[in-house]
Amino acid sequence: MAQSALLNVMITAAMKAGRILARDFGEVQNLQVSMKGPADFVSAADRRAEETVYRELSRARPDWGFLMEERGAVEGRDPQHRWIVDPLDGTTNFLHGLPIFAVSIALERDGEIVAGVIFNPAMDELFTAEKGGGAFMNDRRIRVAARQRMPEALFGTGVPFLGKGDHPGFLYELRQIMGESAGIRRYGAAALDLAYVASGRLDGFWERALQPWDVAAGAILVREAGGFLTGIEGEPFDHIRGDVVCGNEFMHKALVTELGKATAKRKAARSPAS
Ligand code: IPD
Ligand code: CA
Ligand code: CA
Ligand code: CA
Repeated sequence: MAQSALLNVMITAAMKAGRILARDFGEVQNLQVSMKGPADFVSAADRRAEETVYRELSRARPDWGFLMEERGAVEGRDPQHRWIVDPLDGTTNFLHGLPIFAVSIALERDGEIVAGVIFNPAMDELFTAEKGGGAFMNDRRIRVAARQRMPEALFGTGVPFLGKGDHPGFLYELRQIMGESAGIRRYGAAALDLAYVASGRLDGFWERALQPWDVAAGAILVREAGGFLTGIEGEPFDHIRGDVVCGNEFMHKALVTELGKATAKRKAARSPAS
């Protein structure tokens, strides 16, 4: 695999931060944890990992800006480039001792995502993609699953939780998709959900109200693995808006259709019978 120097910089940063997370994961009981809002945790591990990514990337490209979950936006002198970073995607899993979490780093150039790296140190799985260069897991080329039958398909989603609003439509979506598919999983780390679609482990994934750092790296992985990715109603995907539906061409379309049916059922239930 011909990896660019830039991708190597991203991989080094993700792996260094990942090693810090792995070390903290072994001592999770002793970590300092605080709340940013209801059920919205941040730990010393999130901050240490973010610091490491920030240091590594700004040393390699001193003029480029950042959008990071914990630190927020950091202006760079170069208006073209920006790193979008989630230092620990899956904090709740991490703090509960569940080994489903990752470092996620994307590179945005002129508003477009051109490279992404997602590293889960607990599984030693590194997902990488560059625009036009395909998607990889630990140096092996990956592709979205080929399945074209909903009854055989396994989907991922994000279940809303305390502090994320009550998303009344979600129960309709769940009922719709569970009635048509082989199952639904909730892994609790959106970056990995997208990486799992890219690698064919999941046939599709949908979630609303994600943040740019949850989806930016995963989005290019899915695309470079041959997948389709849009907003919930099939509108163009926007990593800043953070609503996502994805899968192979067939599953993506099927998901958009089923989610549309769920919305119609919800609206019908709300409007008084005439
Ligand atoms: C969370 C995870 C989760 C998603 C939440 C995110 P964090 O990110 O990606 O799967 O459902 O909306 O906030 O806070 O663990 O980085
Ligand atoms: Ca968080
Ligand atoms: Ca996240
Ligand atoms: Ca995070």
